[in-house]
Amino acid sequence: MNIDRIRSAFPILQRRNYLNSCSLGALSDRAEERLRIFVANWNDYGASAWYDHWWGLLGELRGRVETLFAAPAGTVALMPSTSACLAAISSSLDWTKRNRIVTTELDFPTLLYQWKVHPDAEMVVLRSPDGVHIDPQQFAGTVDDRTLAIATSHVFFTTGAIQDLAAIAGIARQAGAYSLIDGYQGAGQIPVDLPTTGVDFYTAGPLKWLCGGPGLAYLYVRDALIPTLEPTLTSWFASQDQFDFNPGEFRYHTDARRFELGTPALATVHTALGGQEIVDEVGMEAIRTRNVMLTDRLVDGCRAAGFSPRVSDVPSARSAVITIRHRDPAPAVAHLAQRSIIVDNRPGVVRASPHFYNTPNEIDEFLEVLGETVP
Ligand SMILES: Cc1ncc(COP(=O)(O)O)c(C=O)c1O
Repeated sequence: MNIDRIRSAFPILQRRNYLNSCSLGALSDRAEERLRIFVANWNDYGASAWYDHWWGLLGELRGRVETLFAAPAGTVALMPSTSACLAAISSSLDWTKRNRIVTTELDFPTLLYQWKVHPDAEMVVLRSPDGVHIDPQQFAGTVDDRTLAIATSHVFFTTGAIQDLAAIAGIARQAGAYSLIDGYQGAGQIPVDLPTTGVDFYTAGPLKWLCGGPGLAYLYVRDALIPTLEPTLTSWFASQDQFDFNPGEFRYHTDARRFELGTPALATVHTALGGQEIVDEVGMEAIRTRNVMLTDRLVDGCRAAGFSPRVSDVPSARSAVITIRHRDPAPAVAHLAQRSIIVDNRPGVVRASPHFYNTPNEIDEFLEVLGETVP
């Protein structure tokens, strides 16, 4: 990995110590250039840009995400948001025979809200005994013949703990339930081979670790499952005969596009491809190796300075989302920002999330300035 070359592709890194990729991945010059081309084509060709330029990019993006997931062609749909993915999945399930969703208190709120407002859903929310992990056995102890799905995260946004997707998918399948994984904090920082894990649904997006900006999400559906599901939240992009423009006929696409919900955000398709190109070139194994090096340094440094990071002690379960307990996180984050160090705060914690483009020196600088605040 040529770190100087990589860093020169992300202008923000010349101006700031940017350690907040779990909120928003850095913008690259490649993404910016793609966006410039989008605007130029829009200006030059108007709607005909669809035929010569934009339509093909939708296919390119689906394909690159399928490669990222080690998934077969036709298993990824382009969606507006994770929440929209969840709604489309929910609309495709049969709620009459099973209605229980098993989820956890560490998951992102939108993953719980989807079932909270569903008139037929009954939720089981698993508690984390250590505030960091959920043991796969907790899922196993809860699922039964009333369980419709286990819905949980690949990486918890709250603690950065990485879950064992193969174990969760196996537990769900054995009970006759679906596995639905929110991978927003996983894809782009952790290598994923979704067919090997056996998960049924996996949602992700370009916003964070894939450095592609806001406005899109990716929905993976296990290939054998696709023909069995008919979402009732739908659109013309889900139609196999999209360009027949025949309102009297509707047939679902044979692939994952049957979940799509209308025209994708084209500006984001461009920025997402720019970010994705860099991630693909660097490679997920190299990204993970570098992020482990940076986060080990961050966690060890925090502990040496008397701070208490809320992270997994199991190396394989620790990701680059590092939450550090703090009595006054908002002023601490503001203090760091005054020194051009960008991190975030959540209730009771300062949250730092380095990515492959960061350096050990940036981690040390963050630790030094954090040390000027009181744990
Ligand atoms: C784990 C996780 N899931 C989902 C989301 C966002 O969901 P949506 O795309 O619906 O805004 C986020 C953060 O923005 C997240 O961290």
